[in-house]
Amino acid sequence: MEFYDVINARRTVRDFQDDTIDMEVINRIIESGMKAPTNDHMRDWHFIVVKDKDVVEKLIKKIPKKVSEKRLDFIIKSWNLNDECQQRMYSDAIPKQYQMLVDASCVLIPLFKQKRDLLKPKDLAALNAFASIWCCIENIFLAITAEKYAYALRVPLGGEQEYVKSILKFPEEYVMPCYIAIGKPKDDAVYNEQKKYVVLNRIHLNEW
Ligand SMILES: Cc1cc2nc3c(=O)[nH]c(=O)nc-3n(C[C@H](O)[C@H](O)[C@H](O)COP(=O)(O)O)c2cc1C
Repeated sequence: MEFYDVINARRTVRDFQDDTIDMEVINRIIESGMKAPTNDHMRDWHFIVVKDKDVVEKLIKKIPKKVSEKRLDFIIKSWNLNDECQQRMYSDAIPKQYQMLVDASCVLIPLFKQKRDLLKPKDLAALNAFASIWCCIENIFLAITAEKYAYALRVPLGGEQEYVKSILKFPEEYVMPCYIAIGKPKDDAVYNEQKKYVVLNRIHLNEW
């Protein structure tokens, strides 16, 4: 695929077919991630590829399987999600957090080395390792798209990070920024409408 075709085709999909993905494809996707820019030149990143459904189910045990309409309404209100396009996306996404991971052909866990306390940064530079892994993750998303697969991501909440660490046994100094579900989209997969914008309104020449 051409570069701009990949950029335009990349979308979050949370409905996956019952399918498999070859390790060769996953390796190419991760190799693309490893080409991303990195703050300290080290690319101190590792990836745990979880294809075994039993392990996936164990891994995501802390994620609610179902979310009631009442709970969904409460979340939308308490997170101040006032925009209708945004509300539609969250209404689709929140109830699928468990199922998208269990249905995916594989769950990829990226890991980065964090030397200082990520949650108490003294300045922006203290977040450089975190920023770098997200450059790596975007390369992964584009490679998944170029390989004609789809993905969804989830950022771990509350105690999920420590729980996943205990299951996957990754070293103490490594942090998992998200879970990545990879698979073939269902024929009727939902592609939530992106918020409309006019690019030229976002570009400021010389001054805001
Ligand atoms: C930093 C970050 C955190 C996100 N967290 C989640 C998440 O926890 N669960 C989820 O389903 N999607 C998550 N997403 C995906 C967004 O919902 C999605 O990218 C956004 O709605 C735009 O849709 P698009 O990717 O199809 O353009 C996250 C995306 C980013 C960049």
